[in-house]
Amino acid sequence: VELYNEMDYTGNALPAVNPAPWPEGLRGIAPPRLDHTLVTAPEPGKAIEFFQTVLEFRLSEMLQAPDGTIIAAWLWQRPAPHDLAIVPGKPGGFHHAAFVVDSADALFRAADILTMHKARIDYGPGRHGITRGTTLYFFDPSGNRLETFGGYTAYQMDPDCRAIRWTQDQIGPAVFYYSQELNETFLSVYT
Ligand SMILES: [Fe+2]
Repeated sequence: VELYNEMDYTGNALPAVNPAPWPEGLRGIAPPRLDHTLVTAPEPGKAIEFFQTVLEFRLSEMLQAPDGTIIAAWLWQRPAPHDLAIVPGKPGGFHHAAFVVDSADALFRAADILTMHKARIDYGPGRHGITRGTTLYFFDPSGNRLETFGGYTAYQMDPDCRAIRWTQDQIGPAVFYYSQELNETFLSVYT
């Protein structure tokens, strides 16, 4: 991990003075920004503690075993449901990176565009129980899973927010709210 405290400011596709609501000429899904990443760890508890104590991330939501062990966590620094999530898996595993979209409508449009371009859809459009965000997972041609994510109930984190707890027996709806169960590839396919 390399951390920076300085970088060049490039702005976005809108002018810094008197900007329009959105830039003209956008192509494809045109997500406004990256939102979060999900990675795997063989001992999630250790990784979660590292990000909390060394990098000052906070917990927004967690999945907890009956004995109290944290199995997976959603961690934030921006006032958003998560910047990073950690679930059980191999060391250094990359599960997905997510691009935000503005609404559930934009998520369905993303699904249309991906299908028009014959992308392999992994899951969705659907909704997560954790974060309540709408979701669409797909694979890019290199085999990495990506997500468009958004339209969530717009909760924002404050420093005094306390972590929401999900119990292990509810892992199905926690991850995929509508189907209430994990799909086969979710925990087995990542890079
Ligand atoms: Fe995600």
